[in-house]
Amino acid sequence: MIIIQGGQPLSGSVRAAGAKNAALPAIFASLLTPEPVELVNVPCLRDVETAVELVRALGKEVVWEEGRLLIREPGPLSPRAPEELVRRMRASFLVLGPLLARLGQAQVPLPGGCAIGTRPVDLHLKGLSALGAELEVQEGWVYARAPKLQGRTVYLDYPSVGATEQLLLAGALAAGETAILNPAREPEVVDLSRLLSALGARVRWADDRVVVQGTGALSGARHAVIPDRIEAGTFLLAGAITKGKVRVEGIIPEHLAALLVKLEEAGVEVSCGEDWVSVVMGRDPQGVGVETRPYPGFPTDLQPPMVSFLSLADGESLVTESVFEDRFGHVGELLRMGASIRRQGASLLIRGVGGLTGTRVTASDIRAGAALVLAGLAARGTTEVEGTDHIYRGYEGLAAKLGELGAQIWEEKENTYP
Ligand code: EPZ
Repeated sequence: MIIIQGGQPLSGSVRAAGAKNAALPAIFASLLTPEPVELVNVPCLRDVETAVELVRALGKEVVWEEGRLLIREPGPLSPRAPEELVRRMRASFLVLGPLLARLGQAQVPLPGGCAIGTRPVDLHLKGLSALGAELEVQEGWVYARAPKLQGRTVYLDYPSVGATEQLLLAGALAAGETAILNPAREPEVVDLSRLLSALGARVRWADDRVVVQGTGALSGARHAVIPDRIEAGTFLLAGAITKGKVRVEGIIPEHLAALLVKLEEAGVEVSCGEDWVSVVMGRDPQGVGVETRPYPGFPTDLQPPMVSFLSLADGESLVTESVFEDRFGHVGELLRMGASIRRQGASLLIRGVGGLTGTRVTASDIRAGAALVLAGLAARGTTEVEGTDHIYRGYEGLAAKLGELGAQIWEEKENTYP
């Protein structure tokens, strides 16, 4: 449990960790090659632990020191992903493409839904079939076979991050060229494409597609994971919601463009350097309109923390979640803290209130947890956030980093009932 004594303006600077959503596909990319792969700037997170456990279970040897992973292959890989690990973390489904491309077969459980939606993987499967995979879905498992994947042009009905990554991974070892039309362009997807190029698959981005030229065998590589724009954005919002002054270093400001525009619209003073962004907030924010969109639109992962911030705005805000069908797990808990939010389908009508009041709240997913921590930082009194397992899946040392910025925050072991 994270306990917060609210009302303290944050001030100071904090350094962004490596991006969770770039580190995970990078770890799975190591399955494409028998050669050593070294990843640096890897964040220390539960989800990274799960990804390391998974590639170890498949036959890789992983040495993890600080933010550096050295992944080797002492012997043959297994084509079967352990159910427990895939069910624990949806991103594990990304082992399907690499195992199929490398071994000609793969058995991977379908990932379950989660708190933010059903999260189907139909686009992953449709794309792999287009590359020649024979797929059978039985009792919640995908049985895939493909003696040799053949590069093709594949159209994505939606620019899905996971489906784009799945097809880039498979295309790296497919014969010929795989062109993905309407791909996701999130920085984490581009980061994966850079790693695949370093491994020997040639990847190039055009305005309507990304093309990967597969190769028979890939080499090893050393790759630095990009900074985490979602963690960075969360800290900037923490500075803004507490009317403080926070600077986040070691980031790529362009990756946060949509958030920075909305912060300025809300009245936050934003300044940027080469690899840092700082916010100063000395007054109540103005209400703004926000719609989450695929990159470069406003990131869905920052919608929950943004809703916390706008709960204290002067005026109304309309926030529309266009990426996931049910990413409002934080709203009920914010209402309990005194927020005034009304759901209208995929949108939230937020009426700013003068203040929030601390109480015991429960996190339903990573970003909802972050939203509740931010609300607690600004609330009167004490806020106890349960469900920190979710939070530590995606935020390296969140409480400690906020503490360094002056937050009155500490952690307590949570009673995890059986
Ligand atoms: C990635 O999830 C991220 N996770 C998510 O971050 C992020 O919110 C999301 O991209 C959007 O940016 C990782 O990178 C590990 P999608 P992903 O496929 O790949 C639908 C976090 O908090 N869809 O772009 O699952 C889907 O239902 C996490 O760090 C299909 O319909 O996202 C959703 O509505 C949460 N069929 C939309 O597309 C498919 O086959 C976006 O999903 C695939 C997706």
